[in-house]
Amino acid sequence: TSEKSDTDIRFVCRGTFVHSTAEEALQILEDALLGVDSKGKIAFIGEGKDLQKLSESFGFCSSAVTQLRQHEFFMPGMIDTHIHAPQYSYAGTALDMPLLQWLNTYTFPVESRFQDIEFAKKVYTQVVKRTLRNGTTTACYFATIHTDASLLLGQIANDFGQRALVGKVCMDRNDGVKYYRETSEESQEETYRFIKELLNKKYPLVKPVVTPRFAPSCTETLLAKLGEMAKNNKLHIQSHISENLKEVEWVKELFPNSESYTDIYHKCNLLTDKVRAQSRLRFTKPLVKCECLHKIRQTVPDALQTIMAHGCHLSDEELVLFRKTGAALSHCPNSNISLCSGVLNVRNVLNHKVKLGLGTDVAGGYSPSILDAVRRALDSSKVLTIQDPEHKTLSFEEVFRLATLGGSQALSLDERTGNFKVGKDFDALRVNVAAPGGPIDLIQSEKPQILLEKFLNLGDDRNIVEVFVAGKKVVPFSEP
Ligand code: GUN
Ligand code: FE
Repeated sequence: TSEKSDTDIRFVCRGTFVHSTAEEALQILEDALLGVDSKGKIAFIGEGKDLQKLSESFGFCSSAVTQLRQHEFFMPGMIDTHIHAPQYSYAGTALDMPLLQWLNTYTFPVESRFQDIEFAKKVYTQVVKRTLRNGTTTACYFATIHTDASLLLGQIANDFGQRALVGKVCMDRNDGVKYYRETSEESQEETYRFIKELLNKKYPLVKPVVTPRFAPSCTETLLAKLGEMAKNNKLHIQSHISENLKEVEWVKELFPNSESYTDIYHKCNLLTDKVRAQSRLRFTKPLVKCECLHKIRQTVPDALQTIMAHGCHLSDEELVLFRKTGAALSHCPNSNISLCSGVLNVRNVLNHKVKLGLGTDVAGGYSPSILDAVRRALDSSKVLTIQDPEHKTLSFEEVFRLATLGGSQALSLDERTGNFKVGKDFDALRVNVAAPGGPIDLIQSEKPQILLEKFLNLGDDRNIVEVFVAGKKVVPFSEP
């Protein structure tokens, strides 16, 4: 008789599992058996042939195992490392201008409407439901400058069971649209209130992110204060960097004493990750203002991590600084193309060993689906190969890793999510490649690698039959 584990098993699934590891961009586990415990964590992952043994040691009934059908597989939930929740209201439109004009013409007027909490509720409910349905188990959101609407976004993500990082946007300068900005004091105080109130809710899967919009919309004073607040409270940080050449020029004018765009954030303590921050944190005197946050934080795992969107025009020296500080990049290929911003050389970023995930950047990117980001990332890489045949094109397996484990690492969530390692939370998609009424026709049974490739290139939400976050089934929705 085998030893009995005292783990409490909630459910067990049997079939094909595909995921990424540090060593392999695509690892395929055929006829695998995966058990999820009562806390939503992966209790074991073994082989189907060991069903009897595993059911005895983990104490579950072998007849209660969910068997996947042919053409079905489980993959890790997808991670959107950069999405603007309010901009979902105009996704699919307004793609006829470069970044800076686009912000003044479309974005700022729309975002200013989110002081209206009813409007915010409508849009935020839609974006959370849509992204979950599309298989986004974790989203890293920009909200707007409005604290209450931003808190509401956190609540809605929690209610629907999405893992989320939520940022109240900070901007203490905006000459383009003067009615959509804060004073520096307001921005600091409201960020503080946002963080405190969101942490006080104790949502298990939702965390605040310190969110300076980007260098041009913040004074150096505000950037430095936000860097301090993030550092003292071990919070995530997100912003934009080097998306568009006009923006890069403008930043040079606004910050004449900085060596580069990256240097500005670096000097303001906005580039970091938890590993590199640990040693420095001990020597940091906490802000008086932040002491009560320290107490709240004791119940939340440490999570200092920077993620910067775009980075299309970063120099190699700047990428070295990203690598040194541990800051991550979010690759938003739909947006980069739609706003004619640039083409990020992902191969070069990976060669510099900078953490990287995928982002939709709705609504600069018109699609709220990471499947779309996968395709646009592959297209962008192929464009670079067309321009330079020496360029090593990304493989679909590599981009699959960016959509899952890569995103998780870029958000410092890889101890909890990103693949099917025992002990991690079960964040997963049940994919049926031949879903009835879906977009894919199969003429014969196919190997898992082909099924995944077809799904990534041709699939949509009709193929995503179930979505799990932390072991809980969140799609199809259980309407309250
Ligand atoms: N840079 C500053 N704000 C934004 C935004 O809302 N979208 C994009 N794509 N870039 C930005
Ligand atoms: Fe963005």
